[in-house]
Amino acid sequence: MADYVDQYAVWGNPIAQSKSPLIQSKFAEQTKQKMEYAAKLGDLETFEQQLIEFFAAGAKGCNITAPFKERAFRLADESSERAKLAAACNTLKKRDDGRLYADNTDGIGLVTDLERLNWIRPHQRILILGAGGAARGVLLPLLQAGQQIVLANRTLEKAQALVEKFKRYGEIQAVAMTAVPAQSYDLIINATSAGLRGSTASVASDTLKLGNAFYDMQYAKSADTPFIAHCKSLGLSNLSNGFGMLVAQAAHSFYLWRGIMPNFMAVYQQLKKDMA
Ligand code: ATR
Repeated sequence: MADYVDQYAVWGNPIAQSKSPLIQSKFAEQTKQKMEYAAKLGDLETFEQQLIEFFAAGAKGCNITAPFKERAFRLADESSERAKLAAACNTLKKRDDGRLYADNTDGIGLVTDLERLNWIRPHQRILILGAGGAARGVLLPLLQAGQQIVLANRTLEKAQALVEKFKRYGEIQAVAMTAVPAQSYDLIINATSAGLRGSTASVASDTLKLGNAFYDMQYAKSADTPFIAHCKSLGLSNLSNGFGMLVAQAAHSFYLWRGIMPNFMAVYQQLKKDMA
């Protein structure tokens, strides 16, 4: 019998642009794990069926990206606390007993990347822009890291609903995007989807000027993201896009599947060099 190689994939739509196969192949190489990892285009109608067939064919796990994170979470048999709170997952693992386990490594990926940047210390004040799926996925690990969060959203009610859900985990308050308290912020994180359409979130320049460092959860291969470009145009410094978060969330997924934590920094630096 031919050697069986454990199968993994990332599911999304669109998916052609995904860097996950490249990142996961670097981790596998580094840790000498035999595995295959493919990019799979999810169908907006039949995604659940595709996923069931993928696992029925013997796959061990997968990453899930937009727009399927909530649907994949609902399909799982069990889930981690952080996936439950996010009501979304970016990682699925087929357990030995056949049950499908959902986790969400986005938030821990963000925290890991903020550690790389040396941007995370206890009791910092963080302003998060956006209260959609991306924000929901990172709130728990940030609160667990002792951060005080001001959650600003264009639609105040959505930020208020998240605060109700997360307030038992730490200090968090909801504000409208147009009513951000005028105080300094150690870090401002863009978790809106505005940049995906090439625009920046409708946040006042005076609000951005209250920040000491700026993190965009989105990333762009070569050019700056719209948010980072906007910060630059205001003369702000300490700017980072979300590429490190992408690599770090992938490292935490890899750990869930293989039980070995890859060296995130080494792979991050290598990929940055390759992309330059
Ligand atoms: P995601 O999963 O990427 O977070 P989402 O759940 O649809 O996507 O949430 C999108 C977030 O970006 C929301 O916080 C949204 O604000 P609203 O809740 O008010 O819609 C925010 N957003 C999108 N475009 C925006 C813009 N131009 N200005 C400000 N916020 C924007």
